[in-house]
Amino acid sequence: LHWVTHSIPIIISFLFSTQVIERNVDPEVTLLTFLRKNWILLIKIWYACGRGGCGACTVMVSKYDPVLAKIRHFSVTACLVPICSLYGNAVTTVEGVGSINTRLHPVQERIAKSHGTQCGFCTPGMVMSMYTLLRNHPQPSEEQLTEALGGNLCRCTGYRPILASGRTFCVESNGCQQRGTGKCCLDPGGNDSSSVGRESDICTELFAEDEFQPLDPTQELIFPPELLRMAEKPEKQTLTFHGERVTWISPGTLKDLLELKAKHPEAPLILGNTSLGPAMKSQGHFHPILLSAARISELSVVSKTSEGLIIGAGCSLAQVKDILAERVSELPEEKTQTYRALLKQLKSLAGQQIRNMASLGGHIISRHCYSDLNPILAVGNTTLNLISVEGARQMPLNERFLAGLASADLKPEEILESVYVPHSHAWEFVSAFRQAQCQQNALADVNAGMRVLLKEGTGTIEDLSISYGGAGAVMVSAQKSCQRLIGRPWDELMLEEACRLLLEEVSLPGWAPGGKVEFKRTLVVSFFFKFYLEVLQELKKLAKFMPVSGLDSHHYPEIPDGFLSALEDFPITGPQGVQRYQSVDSHQSLQDPVGRPIVHLSGLKHATGEAIFCDDIPTMDRELFMVLVTSTRAHAKIISIDSSEALELPGVVDVITAEDIPGTNGAEDDKLMAVDEVLCVGHIICAVVAETNVQAKSAIEKIKITYEDIEPVIFTINDAIKHNSFLCPEKKLEQGNIEEAFEKVDQIVEGEVHVGGQEHFYMETQRVLVIPKAEDKELDIYVSTQDPSHVQKTVSSTLSIPINRITCHVKRVGGGFGGKVGRPAVFGAIAAVGTGRPIRLVLDREDDMLITGGRHPLFGKYKVGFMNNGRIKALDIECFINGGCMLDDSEQVTEFLILKLENAYKIRNLRFRGRACMTNLPSNTAFRGFGFPQGTLITESCITAVAAKCGLLPEKIREKNMYKTVDKTIYKQAFSPETLIRCWNECLDKSSFHSRRMQVEEFNKKNYWKKKGIAIVPMKFSVGFAATSYHQAAALVHIYTDGSVLVTHGGNELGQGIHTKMLQVASRELKIPMSSMHICETSTATVPNTIATAASIGSDVNGRAVQNACQILLKRLEPIIKKNPEGTWEDWIEAAFEQRISLSATGYFRGYKAFMDWEKGEGDPFPYYVYGAACSEIEIDCLTGAHKKIRTDIIMDAGCSLNPAIDIGQVEGSFIQGMGLYTTEELKYSPEGVLYSRGPDEYKIPTITDIPEEFNVSLLPSSQTPLTIYSSKGLGESGMFLGSSVFFAITDAVAAARRERDIAEDFTVKSPATPEWIRMACADRFTEMVWNYCLFP
Ligand SMILES: Cc1cc2nc3c(=O)[nH]c(=O)nc-3n(C[C@H](O)[C@H](O)[C@H](O)COP(=O)(O)OP(=O)(O)OC[C@H]3O[C@@H](n4cnc5c(N)ncnc54)[C@H](O)[C@@H]3O)c2cc1C
Ligand code: FES
Ligand code: FES
Repeated sequence: LHWVTHSIPIIISFLFSTQVIERNVDPEVTLLTFLRKNWILLIKIWYACGRGGCGACTVMVSKYDPVLAKIRHFSVTACLVPICSLYGNAVTTVEGVGSINTRLHPVQERIAKSHGTQCGFCTPGMVMSMYTLLRNHPQPSEEQLTEALGGNLCRCTGYRPILASGRTFCVESNGCQQRGTGKCCLDPGGNDSSSVGRESDICTELFAEDEFQPLDPTQELIFPPELLRMAEKPEKQTLTFHGERVTWISPGTLKDLLELKAKHPEAPLILGNTSLGPAMKSQGHFHPILLSAARISELSVVSKTSEGLIIGAGCSLAQVKDILAERVSELPEEKTQTYRALLKQLKSLAGQQIRNMASLGGHIISRHCYSDLNPILAVGNTTLNLISVEGARQMPLNERFLAGLASADLKPEEILESVYVPHSHAWEFVSAFRQAQCQQNALADVNAGMRVLLKEGTGTIEDLSISYGGAGAVMVSAQKSCQRLIGRPWDELMLEEACRLLLEEVSLPGWAPGGKVEFKRTLVVSFFFKFYLEVLQELKKLAKFMPVSGLDSHHYPEIPDGFLSALEDFPITGPQGVQRYQSVDSHQSLQDPVGRPIVHLSGLKHATGEAIFCDDIPTMDRELFMVLVTSTRAHAKIISIDSSEALELPGVVDVITAEDIPGTNGAEDDKLMAVDEVLCVGHIICAVVAETNVQAKSAIEKIKITYEDIEPVIFTINDAIKHNSFLCPEKKLEQGNIEEAFEKVDQIVEGEVHVGGQEHFYMETQRVLVIPKAEDKELDIYVSTQDPSHVQKTVSSTLSIPINRITCHVKRVGGGFGGKVGRPAVFGAIAAVGTGRPIRLVLDREDDMLITGGRHPLFGKYKVGFMNNGRIKALDIECFINGGCMLDDSEQVTEFLILKLENAYKIRNLRFRGRACMTNLPSNTAFRGFGFPQGTLITESCITAVAAKCGLLPEKIREKNMYKTVDKTIYKQAFSPETLIRCWNECLDKSSFHSRRMQVEEFNKKNYWKKKGIAIVPMKFSVGFAATSYHQAAALVHIYTDGSVLVTHGGNELGQGIHTKMLQVASRELKIPMSSMHICETSTATVPNTIATAASIGSDVNGRAVQNACQILLKRLEPIIKKNPEGTWEDWIEAAFEQRISLSATGYFRGYKAFMDWEKGEGDPFPYYVYGAACSEIEIDCLTGAHKKIRTDIIMDAGCSLNPAIDIGQVEGSFIQGMGLYTTEELKYSPEGVLYSRGPDEYKIPTITDIPEEFNVSLLPSSQTPLTIYSSKGLGESGMFLGSSVFFAITDAVAAARRERDIAEDFTVKSPATPEWIRMACADRFTEMVWNYCLFP
């Protein structure tokens, strides 16, 4: 062994030619941390989850493979890549790909110009995933594109435009946005609604593809020659990297590795670090020595034998996928059953980056209970080839190994060298099953591998193996059941018996990981049923094509036609669709950008990584890092806080508690820091400030807080009602005479609706940098917030400093959605003043999700009275929202909810009541839609309940009860529903609703295990706040002597494109191009006393203020222009300066009047309404609960859109966010009130494969709103609710299944409609078995 005791240079290269030779690397440091710490000025790589689950930190790694003599490029998530593992590799970050100052790469240009960026926080990751794909496949297929982006999350765009940009590189790309629908908008009749040809003022292009620069693969960066030379003559020497706590040893030969393993048997082998890394980060696992197997070529060897495949344990899962695909293409089908099953799982296992990093060996040895591959490897008779200094041996990969039994495990000094997966044989069938919360990038709730060997030609079971993942703490093998079934014919009786045996043997205990016990047990038998059908179908095929000894297909049980669709899995696809908007008037000047799809001002900078977010500001001199300490109890007295040990740790400077607050500690019932009592897990008690992030995090472990629990502890709305625990008085609106109306109706239905909460999951977690100034107690606060004035005010009152000493700066925010009020800034400010040093606070994803509340969960009860023709005469709704432990915005959310509950319906007799419950959960707060998406689900559920009772279709009930003429709302505000009705009719028409409704019914008649559902929902969404003082805005416009213009306004750029729209307004008003203008930031020093950028009206009110400022300036310039009409803008500005005319103006918009008198139940609370309608069609798999979104059509009334690309982006993004709310996003708490779902692995926001296969959005043409800037409407929030069309399509399909099975149709409405809910609602013989078995085990 060659031991090297000194530090070894590590060579990694990024940027065009920059080569980094790094000495003294610390094995605990990941590439993400390394780059952020050392290269922040040059490289922007963003932290969003730190667990490999979001793709925000994606970079490309390139490596020379000496065996294949090929350079491999693959995407990785930098947050899981230990810097030491990169020895000899080249790393390309987004800056290396291109820059706005030098040359843009086509990927960067196209993602920006296709409007694929909003907040931009996910964009560099998206660019790098796409770039890596193009390095490997310059003309990828659509499938490869979707696969490459499957590991990248975006919370803003809804993915459609990102895919559209990627699609421009695809082989199939032909410029038609209706590709894949089998039609082309340019073909005669290709567009069924014929809007392209007929409505000549309607555009369907948001970008001009022919303007894009072509992709030239010859122009790409070359692999660094030094690294090539290193790889060709690999050093055999062992490399050692010593860190503060951990030593990384990377031997160059297998022999050295085995000797090291013998010497350090407890040291793990590190390959992809996708299992070790998260465990070290989140579960506190610590390994003082790590043995890297990255340089051992023997672990990457693949051999094909006549009997099977030997795959090196070091091969990545992506490589395994390629190897298996190759083998499947080479061998006859009967030999590749196991390989096909593995391939199926590998398609949806994690995202591309994780598959690139994770090794087969690491996957097998980790033995995760959710492993997608181990159940198949186990049933496929896989053998593990182990090796140690003692020699080699084989061991079966079976349930004993997977259960970790000592007698069937690796010895500490052994490693896994390779894995032997044998071919399957004739009459052998292997299948894989998996059901997760969403289709891709989600751990399976249950997965399974099943293999059966039938006696040739007889259909009798000779051998059977079944293994389940996710059904227990380790993989479960149903050995006993399989044994008992040997010798049985493959028929219905065997199926019945097998289900009974499986339920007996796979006995999920009540504590099964992740709960969902009944669902998981149902999947256990449902998967077997699918397997039964699959094998039966194969047998029938065999019997047909190779009749054996007189047997024909009739020998096997018939598969009813209606059952065949149970065999089809939902494919993973990217969406197609058309976006329609009204073109600008033909007389509009070409220079005037209003109404055109102008690219987001920061789009290109997002794509190149040059956009600066709060945490990209370089480290300040003497800067300290802050970490928050939160309560671990839900409701308790604080007995003591002992920080003495923490304060003694190196680097720790201070521990801040409520006692350090010089001013007020928030409000009496909404304290900033807990004093005496904590009200929820996650309640902030104190904060540590230290020289580094790591030191601050170590210190919080040492703070000892003693508690004394207090009763009651309330988590649910039901408990709160029981304990009469409320945050504010009931809000109520009433019209007509509800009691009397109930007496006169034909029928009455009562029901309940449950809507779960929602996490904002902005990609950029909350962060702040507070810089105290030397003079006059001044503070500069750089903060990611939607409301800098609120931050400024709160800091002022907390520190007892006048507001005028505090300046808040917001350059851009990586997504807000209502969740970024900016409270962390106040803690930073307390510490900055206390220590006199700059303070940086960046919340980890886990802390962000734990500490901050989200959307209010809702429980609603309704009673609806109606006539047999579907006319609703009376509706009584009482709802409760879970406000969490403090008031926050809960009272306003309750008010909005009540005000908006009627949605689009005119019902003469109404009573709406709402209340916010106080519970011991983090305080829930504002979230896009502000109560509307939850509340209106009750109203729409009433509609479906009425439809079911009347035997009519829900759309008929909707139409019957919708507002038809000018009328007054429940709060007596007059409005005309004309646009609402237009949206509804257009949506019916554009979606071909009625014919598709018939097709859905036809499909459902023919298919028993798959059901389709279709739903259309109307929307009347009120924008703005119900208070006049909120409707005001200011702007400041400076014209400089060179003619350039600086615009500042009170809105914050959250990704919604407000700055772009503001420059469009200024450009129209001043009649100069947008390129002559600039917006630097939002600052409380330039525009004071601003209103939060929220409630959809940011662009409205600020647009009017910018317009006002520009008009003032233009008025001042008028005499000069008149005098010299042929002059240029620059001439006029020069002249104005000479004539001492002020070139700076404040614009102001004294906005809409809005009020609500709750006593009288009357008011004019909203300036205007946004109308819309959405139609969605879905298909569910009744056996697993999975669903696919077939098509969505949205019609939205944007008025005269300021920027159709941005507005369509808002509609799509909010629709997908709403779809997440109603289908996959589920918050899970422990019985003690601890939030479990604290990262992308447990909390599932939609991924790229979750969007509708066809996704069409149209902005309603010729709609006007005289009130607003250029008659445009604010669209930030309204699309959220339209996501419920997917929910109602799902319930439509579930209802169809229940009707067919003769079960009551009126089931409790519960959102989100997760696979668990869908599966259990589609009750059948398998759920029956589970329930019966639970009763009589
Ligand atoms: C975001 C994310 C999503 C995921 N999604 C899925 C999913 O959908 N489905 C799924 O099944 N899995 C999923 N995983 C888990 C993933 O498959 C495993 O983490 C991965 O396969 C482990 O491989 P690795 O090379 O990274 O192992 P490492 O983390 O490097 O090592 C893991 C363990 O294996 C041991 N080890 C590694 N190689 C050897 C060897 N040759 N001999 C002996 N011991 C060895 C190490 O000592 C260590 O204890 C996900 C992981 C992440 C981070
Ligand atoms: S994947 Fe690295 S930050 Fe999320
Ligand atoms: S643009 Fe993708 S997260 Fe904001």
